[in-house]
Amino acid sequence: MEVVVLDKPADVVAHGFTLVQKQVERKPDSVLGLATGATMEPLYKLMRELDLSRATTFNLDEYVGLSSDHPCSYAAYMRKHLFRQSPVKEHHLLNGLAKDIPAHCRAFEEAIEVAGGIDLQLLGLGTDGHIGFNEPGSSLNSRTRLKILTPSTRRANSKHFPPDETVPQYVLTMGVGTIMDAAHCVLLAHGSSKARAVAGAVEGGVSAFCPASVLQMHNRCTFIVDSEAAAELKLRDYYRTVFENKPSWME
Ligand code: GLP
Repeated sequence: MEVVVLDKPADVVAHGFTLVQKQVERKPDSVLGLATGATMEPLYKLMRELDLSRATTFNLDEYVGLSSDHPCSYAAYMRKHLFRQSPVKEHHLLNGLAKDIPAHCRAFEEAIEVAGGIDLQLLGLGTDGHIGFNEPGSSLNSRTRLKILTPSTRRANSKHFPPDETVPQYVLTMGVGTIMDAAHCVLLAHGSSKARAVAGAVEGGVSAFCPASVLQMHNRCTFIVDSEAAAELKLRDYYRTVFENKPSWME
């Protein structure tokens, strides 16, 4: 596990971009796992400059009941922030209107397998420690499935919805186990609202209470956080020292 503590949100995004850029340059037909949320928007702005025409993508999650045309769906988010400007070879999004949800989720898992697995999975972090939409209490072995959002996540995500619309209660999400199968997980978080979740994920015990904490068990996981999000990390100065003194061959 590598914890990269940087000064500002823009530094977090720039470092995340460098990792994606290196991945795509090394392997133009990379399989990328994509996340949504405000944290990812500036990253996708940078990624539009990359040639993603040979890449395959899988999105983490989607709201149940929203069609891909709904402006608050993650399908619409991806078109707006990335796909329109930098088309990928093939993108896979969970369908919020799927009739047979278990079959749809199984097919999504199979598609990841057929693609050869995810090379690099981007992750944001919920204020309650969720990754994807795996809320506290999610099995750390879970696969893609239906979940019910906590009231706090629905409140947090209401900023992306018009005032007269409620945030759906049901969602589809890759499971924690699905995320853990990615070869490299890259989690970005900035701002003081994420400080408690970052501390839980990086330095708390591994627990379904903070699903992101399972990343401590991942072979290759990079947490990239700004100084505000790192505020509750006991070893934050040490993480900075490690990153600043990393031998170049370790890149
Ligand atoms: C949603 C997404 C998560 C994302 C989280 C953080 O809940 N399902 O994948 O990590 O938002 O969002 P933001 O970056 O807006 O804080």
